[in-house]
Amino acid sequence: MNRTTVIIFGGTGDLTYRKLIPALYNLSQRELLGDDFFIIAIGRRDYDTAAYISVIDSWLKQFARLRFDGEKLAAFYRHIRYYRMDFTRQEEYEGLNAFCAGPESGATLVYYAVAPQFFNAITYGVSACPNIRSPRIILEKPFGADLEMAKLLSYALESRFGAENIYRIDHYLGKEMIRNILAIRENNPIIENAWSRESIECVHISALETVGVETRGDYYDRAGALKDMVQNHLLQLLSITALEHTGGNLADEQLAVLRSLRPAAGSDIRGSMVLGQYEGYREEPKVAPDSDTETYACLRLFIDNERWQGIPFFIRTGKKCGNREVEVAITFRRVNPAADPNVLIIKIQPTEGVYLEFNIKTPGEETGISKAKMEFCQNCNDIFRQNTPEAYERMLYACITGDSSWFSKWDMIEFSWKYIEDLKALYDDAGLTVYPYAQGSAGPAEADRLAENDDQRWRE
Ligand code: BG6
Repeated sequence: MNRTTVIIFGGTGDLTYRKLIPALYNLSQRELLGDDFFIIAIGRRDYDTAAYISVIDSWLKQFARLRFDGEKLAAFYRHIRYYRMDFTRQEEYEGLNAFCAGPESGATLVYYAVAPQFFNAITYGVSACPNIRSPRIILEKPFGADLEMAKLLSYALESRFGAENIYRIDHYLGKEMIRNILAIRENNPIIENAWSRESIECVHISALETVGVETRGDYYDRAGALKDMVQNHLLQLLSITALEHTGGNLADEQLAVLRSLRPAAGSDIRGSMVLGQYEGYREEPKVAPDSDTETYACLRLFIDNERWQGIPFFIRTGKKCGNREVEVAITFRRVNPAADPNVLIIKIQPTEGVYLEFNIKTPGEETGISKAKMEFCQNCNDIFRQNTPEAYERMLYACITGDSSWFSKWDMIEFSWKYIEDLKALYDDAGLTVYPYAQGSAGPAEADRLAENDDQRWRE
């Protein structure tokens, strides 16, 4: 195997410590990086490689998925170099170029694990480094602060490195159970045959968290839940759930779903979106004391195509909620109005699995109907859990092998940004407020009004 080189800008950031280094360690243990890989972590901190390794050591021990011992870690660390530079200064890239001299790599990944305001400086700097040959660029969201900025950044990146070499990561697309949605549909006729408006009453997609904004108040206060979660992770999840899977290009099929969303313009915004903010948010570090940023968003969307016409898709995300829960719940139409509906839940995290609610005759009674449950918990099984790569592990490996099929394409990002920006503008124009909600709750009570006419599961 040819050498793999991974260059990380933002080498001393949280993402690198928690996700990237553990993912690379796991890949090395699975022998997917070959014997001759290099990880170059770039940061401004005054470390040398030995000091850097002593910092990442404790993170790795906390977050590595696969077994480690002193020998395995020492072997992995021999592939890591720390390079200190101020990546906003173009004159410092000459030194980086010299540092990267060496045999040609099979794949060179350049990871922008930094805020988008630094993207352009890195793009110009890296494109002036001849020793960083044909790099594949991995970008973390947000891809910009707004649509205009995102367009400019994309143009600079694509014109220098080629559109096919830009990998925009949405780590939700690396999650095991999100990958599983299509497999579950495709391989179970009883599910696929019922996957449309004829049998389905509504769809709920939730990503609730118990954590708040933690140390990221500065970024989060500018982004809010709509940009942080909805326009990327949740619209991705919606498009995968509602896909017309014809076996064609996945990204094109996802985009077709989004393009069928009922246009934001002219929608009844009161019945389409509710935003909330958890109590105490304004006292979080680096958050404006009068901030109106939403930490909760709930949307009721419609996909105007033959399969989904008239079926509401509820999307919910919030910080500091009572439960940690990422899932897709499909509620089926009832045959008997007196019985509960069948509900199929694809659990994405923390539990990974599939859960089905159905009805049976109440045992021992002649007429009563009772609700029964079937549950398959995938990550309760040790073997399955150990064999399941983490989202970042999967995404990094896809990039190394040049497989861009599960990365976000620019046209989809552009569409999502515009859609969400339009909804937010309507919300503001209608004078709707960002409703407070108690920490540990299910979000603001006002969110209930979105489901007034169509749903009974809403706040269970
Ligand atoms: C990130 C958001 O993209 O996703 C965070 O910026 C959020 O605010 C995180 O907490 C959730 O990811 P996961 O994998 O923990 O569900």
